[in-house]
Amino acid sequence: MLGINPDIRKSHTLTGEFYRSEVIFNQVIEKIFARSWHYADDAGCIKSNISIQPINLLPGVLDEPIVFTRDKNGKAHCMSNVCTHRGMILVEEGSKSRIISCKYHGRCFRLDGSFKSMPAFEEAEGFPCEDDNLPQVPFTEWAGMLFTSLNPLVSFEEIIRPIQERLSFLPLDKMVFDASRSKDYFVNANWALYCDNYLEGLHIPFVHPALNANLDFENYAYEIYPYCNLQLGIGNGQADSFDIPEGHQDYGKDVYAYYYWLFPNLMLNFYTWGLSLNVVEPTSFNTTKVRFRTYMYPGAEAVFEDSPLDETEMEDEWVVERVQKGIQSRMYKRGRFSPSMEKGVHHFHRLIQEYMSS
Ligand code: FES
Ligand SMILES: [Fe+2]
Repeated sequence: MLGINPDIRKSHTLTGEFYRSEVIFNQVIEKIFARSWHYADDAGCIKSNISIQPINLLPGVLDEPIVFTRDKNGKAHCMSNVCTHRGMILVEEGSKSRIISCKYHGRCFRLDGSFKSMPAFEEAEGFPCEDDNLPQVPFTEWAGMLFTSLNPLVSFEEIIRPIQERLSFLPLDKMVFDASRSKDYFVNANWALYCDNYLEGLHIPFVHPALNANLDFENYAYEIYPYCNLQLGIGNGQADSFDIPEGHQDYGKDVYAYYYWLFPNLMLNFYTWGLSLNVVEPTSFNTTKVRFRTYMYPGAEAVFEDSPLDETEMEDEWVVERVQKGIQSRMYKRGRFSPSMEKGVHHFHRLIQEYMSS
């Protein structure tokens, strides 16, 4: 047990050791990352029928080779990218091949992962059987994106439901992935420090002057759901805000951004121009890659160019890397939560505790 009290008023934060220990990090990978949902890629990677796209899930950490396909009937599949004969990696680059064939001894699979053929196995008994098919991997397509989980503790539908309901007034299926406005950031810090920082707005007036100028900080709000949470960024009337239909719970509010976080490491930041999706991928116990993926409504480029995303990211990295140094101290033990402004961080720490102890 990590000692996170369900009552935020009484609770302490995670200890410094949680962030600096490689032993704990290795447990986190199996207990949390192998059992949660991940953004794999844009669904455009298997846009046309008969297409194949391999993905290495969390390189260097989970390192799980999987492959997405779309068959001739337009149905998508996700499965292991490891040959069921002697373990060769099957697909190394995207293609339009009709079958998956192993380059080691020629075993072939259909695009749904089922075994098709294998030379020199005529005399093998009880062959082929279920185990010769490629193991299926749970996945889902949502708003033009592919999500996957190796061994999910909860369904993606359950996690995303509060977001789906709240944002049903937005044409999310019209958003288009924009590679030219997407990039990766590399941060010298433990992945959970980056998430902690994202999950509270308490630091905004201190760390983000440009963002703060767009927000009405007095009305910044937090909402906690089972496996995701929301920070509602209310604008101060100076910046672009959502056109919210009458009858919606946010009608009449000047909403600048819906900042959603999905346990453990996914951020969906909805703005009037579209979505900034941030995936916080650990690359080791003390280094992190943050993938920023931009999804935009057609014609919204000018509004996007106005938002201070890159500047805000630099400011967050500056502070998170200094916290990484701070928690190495022999004198830092653990902290407390602001009950009004650090509900999201407390939620994150509670979920870490729940996954680590189950
Ligand atoms: S490892 Fe694939 S056919 Fe042998
Ligand atoms: Fe920040």
